[in-house]
Amino acid sequence: MPSFDTLASADGLWTGLTGLDGQPCAIAVQDGRIAWTGAPDAVPAACAALPRHAGQGALVTPGLVDCHTHLVYGGQRANEFAMRLAGASYEEVAKAGGGIVSSVRATRAASEDELFARASARLQSLLAEGVCAIEIKSGYGLALEHERKQLRVARRLAAAHGVTVRTTFLGAHALPPEYAGRSQEYTDLVCREMLPALHAEGLVDAVDVFCERIAFSLAETEQVFQAAQALGLPVKLHAEQLSDMGGAALAARYGALSCDHIEHLSQEGIAAMAAAGTVAVLLPGAYYTLRDTHLPPIAALRAAGVPMAVSTDHNPGTSPALSLLLMANMACTLFRLTVPEAIDGITTHAARALGLQETHGAIAAGRPANFVLWDLQDAAELAYWFGQRPVRAVVRQGRIAEGAV
Ligand code: NIG
Ligand code: FE
Repeated sequence: MPSFDTLASADGLWTGLTGLDGQPCAIAVQDGRIAWTGAPDAVPAACAALPRHAGQGALVTPGLVDCHTHLVYGGQRANEFAMRLAGASYEEVAKAGGGIVSSVRATRAASEDELFARASARLQSLLAEGVCAIEIKSGYGLALEHERKQLRVARRLAAAHGVTVRTTFLGAHALPPEYAGRSQEYTDLVCREMLPALHAEGLVDAVDVFCERIAFSLAETEQVFQAAQALGLPVKLHAEQLSDMGGAALAARYGALSCDHIEHLSQEGIAAMAAAGTVAVLLPGAYYTLRDTHLPPIAALRAAGVPMAVSTDHNPGTSPALSLLLMANMACTLFRLTVPEAIDGITTHAARALGLQETHGAIAAGRPANFVLWDLQDAAELAYWFGQRPVRAVVRQGRIAEGAV
């Protein structure tokens, strides 16, 4: 892995690019930021003398944003894949002692350096495909020291790879085995000890809960949201994945950045999200892996004007996916998103799901330079091909991080 500091600067005038609208465009980068962008015949005099980077007709998009991942964990769960192929459901696997809790055992057993090395390799795949910002959740530690270990790894990944990382504390992901039958006590621990301590260490950017029959109740979810709110932290929710718990409406009342999964989201939940400006995060990788058949209510979300993001949900149980473009393809094929919706879903709306809408997800003057040059002619190709990596170059945080131009 080349050190971020040694990467070439992206400063200069990027010409010969084609925008998502099919029109020629140019981008001027100065001091790692976008100084100007527009039509090639309208380059301001101040930018015209900059050194040139020839885009040679490459399609250019904003840097991709993966807004929902569980990237840091020990072990893997291919055995559960086999169990499900033999007919077991996700809930049955979880009840049999597998599921999230089996990743908890492996994560607790791993050292911080081991977790860093494994997560680094996974992150590398996402970065090579143009990811410039990523969310990383805890939730496989479920005890203060192990949640801390996961979040520290997430912070180290940001520094080592020169990528924007938003950390999300997901202490309320599953009930740890030592608290079996004592859900309320564990929720109290999450709210009174774990969250305040990790927040004080600067490790938490947002707070999430898995609100589900096999995880935390609506009342427990609200308790965690209240603890987050008291610390001034934004919330998100794993909502209505397996059943309609009313989680989305609750999350919207707390001004949630996003509600994620939402296969069983109700009309009431949609209305609440629309009113609160909460982003709907679609996770087709989990839907596909679990062979779910209950589609998220895309048409109703669209009609209500709820912004839709698309993410990998990378995790060892339900979505061992490391390609955001594949998720865009699946969002179109499985969920019937349009191509522009899918592209917005992995850029501008994904940024908003992380509260990064002012800095990421769009190519605009004043923002840090994060953009991707693709060996593609037509924007629809971004969601059309799968199993390919048509990246020519990635500019991340003002440096040429992949490819060469
Ligand atoms: O987003 N839904 C809950 N959490 C993860 C799955 C985690 C796991 O199975 O390890 C998800 O799909
Ligand atoms: Fe998830």
